[in-house]
Amino acid sequence: MNHIQHVVVPGTFDPVTLGHVDVIGRARHLFPQVTVAVAESRTKRGVGTAFTLDERVEMLRDALEEQGIIRLGGVRVLPFTGLLVDFCREQSAGGVVKGLRAMTDFEYELQQADLNAHLAPDIESVFVMSNPGYGYVSSSIVRELASLGSDVDMLVPACVAVRLKEHFADA
Ligand code: PNS
Repeated sequence: MNHIQHVVVPGTFDPVTLGHVDVIGRARHLFPQVTVAVAESRTKRGVGTAFTLDERVEMLRDALEEQGIIRLGGVRVLPFTGLLVDFCREQSAGGVVKGLRAMTDFEYELQQADLNAHLAPDIESVFVMSNPGYGYVSSSIVRELASLGSDVDMLVPACVAVRLKEHFADA
């Protein structure tokens, strides 16, 4: 059996947080090639995103550059639509890496991993524990704080904090 060389780290990244950057860095520590896959929209709840797909991809690229992840090599960011397992196949990736914060993440992630395993038994789901320092960080908390004018500098890369300020100043 071959070792997995290439994994996908998928998400909505609306916007990317330091918690996401931590998970992507860990994925790169474990696997030589990592594709960060930015989903078109958060269809699971039928609501749109604060940032467009292009904006979210651009913020991720800037954030990974800023945080020294791109410098490691083997990491790229791509948008995707449709099923995650189809995207993994198109990219010849053998696994999906996601971060787990609290138990509350577990049930949802297990359900998605089970569904993906049903659709594509050849694609492995791998979970990494997020840094406890980022346990409470989520894109929705970041959006809420930023929309209320609160400082989010401790939760997101500096380039994202700037984009959030611009976004909510215009809103
Ligand atoms: O940022 P999130 O909410 O954790 O990301 C969820 C995402 C985008 C990874 C998930 O919704 C997804 O894989 N969407 C693509 C559609 C798909 O494959 N659905 C079946 C698995 S849930």
